[in-house]
Amino acid sequence: MNYRMLTSAVLLTAALTCKAQSNVMDVNTKKVGAVVQNTMYGMFFEDINYAADGGLYGELVKNRSFEFPQSLMGWQTFGNVELKNDGPFERCPHYVTLSDPGHRDRRTGLVNEGYFGIGVLKGEEYRFTVWAKAPKGTGRITVQLIDPKTMGERQEFAGAKLDVKSAEWEKYEVIIKSPKTHADARLRIFLDGRNAVSLEHVSLFPVNTFKNRDNGMRRDLAQALADQHPGVFRFPGGCIVEGTDLATRYQWKNTIGPVENRPLNQNRWLHTFTHRFFPDYYQSYGLGFYEYFVLSEDIGAEPLPVLNVGMACQFQNRNDEKAHAAIDELQPYIQDCLDLIEFANGDTSTTWGRKRAEMGHPAPFNMTMIGVGNEQWDEMYFKRLEPFVKAIKARYPKMRIVGTSGPDSEGKMFEIGWKAMKEMKADLVDEHFYRPETWFLNSGLRYENYDRKGPKVFAGEYACHGKGKKWNHFETSLYEAAFMTDLERNADVVWLTAYAPLFAHVDGWQWRPDLIWFDNTRMFKSVSYYVQQMYAMNKGTNVLPLTMAGKPVAGQEGQNGLFASAVTDRNTREVIVKVINTGKTPQPVSINLLGMKGERTAATVTLTSDDPDAENTLDNPERIVPQSGTARCEAGKKSTVLTDNLPAMTFRLYKVKM
Ligand code: AHR
Repeated sequence: MNYRMLTSAVLLTAALTCKAQSNVMDVNTKKVGAVVQNTMYGMFFEDINYAADGGLYGELVKNRSFEFPQSLMGWQTFGNVELKNDGPFERCPHYVTLSDPGHRDRRTGLVNEGYFGIGVLKGEEYRFTVWAKAPKGTGRITVQLIDPKTMGERQEFAGAKLDVKSAEWEKYEVIIKSPKTHADARLRIFLDGRNAVSLEHVSLFPVNTFKNRDNGMRRDLAQALADQHPGVFRFPGGCIVEGTDLATRYQWKNTIGPVENRPLNQNRWLHTFTHRFFPDYYQSYGLGFYEYFVLSEDIGAEPLPVLNVGMACQFQNRNDEKAHAAIDELQPYIQDCLDLIEFANGDTSTTWGRKRAEMGHPAPFNMTMIGVGNEQWDEMYFKRLEPFVKAIKARYPKMRIVGTSGPDSEGKMFEIGWKAMKEMKADLVDEHFYRPETWFLNSGLRYENYDRKGPKVFAGEYACHGKGKKWNHFETSLYEAAFMTDLERNADVVWLTAYAPLFAHVDGWQWRPDLIWFDNTRMFKSVSYYVQQMYAMNKGTNVLPLTMAGKPVAGQEGQNGLFASAVTDRNTREVIVKVINTGKTPQPVSINLLGMKGERTAATVTLTSDDPDAENTLDNPERIVPQSGTARCEAGKKSTVLTDNLPAMTFRLYKVKM
């Protein structure tokens, strides 16, 4: 054999080997399958990690109504400050009176520390409002934004004066513009002059809230929600629905109406972990059910409220029957569900529909689903859920009821839960799985064999808990992306999904991973956020069959760590293929788009990193973000063939016009 022959032989062998190694997938673009629900790839909001007060909710003042059990928590007072409790708001009766300190060189006032400080942005306006009265003639206060760490120069960097003109309680307002960005400012209020002034519901809000709503949301955080294009928005939790005990469960009726009169509630996460202990974690309910519904509308997601089933947190109370409402005492809880449906959807002539209209939304919120119980399990739950199902279905037969299968992703308790939900004819079952890497890599066929006649699946809380450390980093997000091909492939049975908690304050978190992290002035989106976004923005309308050697591509043996799924979008007339290479080496892929002919260029979106531990951070928020590109599609004999060399540890989606 001469050199040229040898070279040709080597090349031929190499070509054959290369071909043999290529991962050939078939997508039948003509076999349009199950509808992908609009609710897919939603979000789960819980007031955990300071997600609401101190986070999404725009309020910057902590304990604004002096209702914390230690009434002045969050406040530092000086001079002659008196706490009183006969204020104008029945359910929030506390307030303070600032009086003459008794010497012209002394001062009376108070300072609010905010949530891990008060964050303000350069050039932004802030609305200071307060309910006040000056019983002995006009009183004056000075309101200041201060830098508490400044020494030797003026601490105040923005401020305004405000005259309290009436001896009766009235609401006052002044706008303060911040000349600089400061993540750790304080709000200081001085009494000016001799006349006493009483202050209640002391509030500081950015003027520019999301969609400019009163009592609105922090703009950057809410915008991040909208930008993910969520299909469903589940709120308000999570374990806070249950509360540490029934007294501290989430009660939606306390969260509507004027904010000044919404009673405070202890947050379930206040004392859960001694290593992450936040004794000042309370819920002002300023972000309440009305605001949640409006927000769902504003971000284009279907609302999914979750209500208490008459049970305190099962993790904290276990099998203690006495911790939960007795079966014959469930009526008020059931009534809460019925009234909520009326609040959301009822005509404005109904009791609760009128309340919604009075708050500013005469049109119904079109709620179609209600969660009853969060992550409950066992007989204790089933026997309580039953009367809820009967009562809700009797009054609102079309309302979809979301039950739960508990905290286990499989196993005995999980099976029992599903069986009970089927028997009770729940419409959907909320499954939760916080699991390690191996679970995600081995669960690529989880939903293949689910009963197609039973309730639909709500994968309502899930995240890959990486390396036992449970933090947001690239590798875990990639495995989530891989697992999600199974959600997509089984869209006939999986109707809703939502990732683990949405928000976490970098200084105040109790639980991770989370989708979006923030401090008082900045935020970043985790890599998992981008995974969710890539799915949500490319969910298509119908599933297409995708196979490799006749099998679904779900990381099975011989599939080189690949996961894949495909959909078509009937509106944009596109085929969208998602492929994840979880392996440590690049993988050649060759995708036969059966039913299509001729050459094309596919648009691609890629999420990749050569460091599995890499993460986005406040200082480097865009270290790993989706990148756009293109891929070639050749005209094959029987189909259009998309070929690519998929880098190691990469999620790439391809969009091909029909
Ligand atoms: O997401 C944090 C907690 O995890 C939720 O409150 C609960 O539903 C789950 O156990």
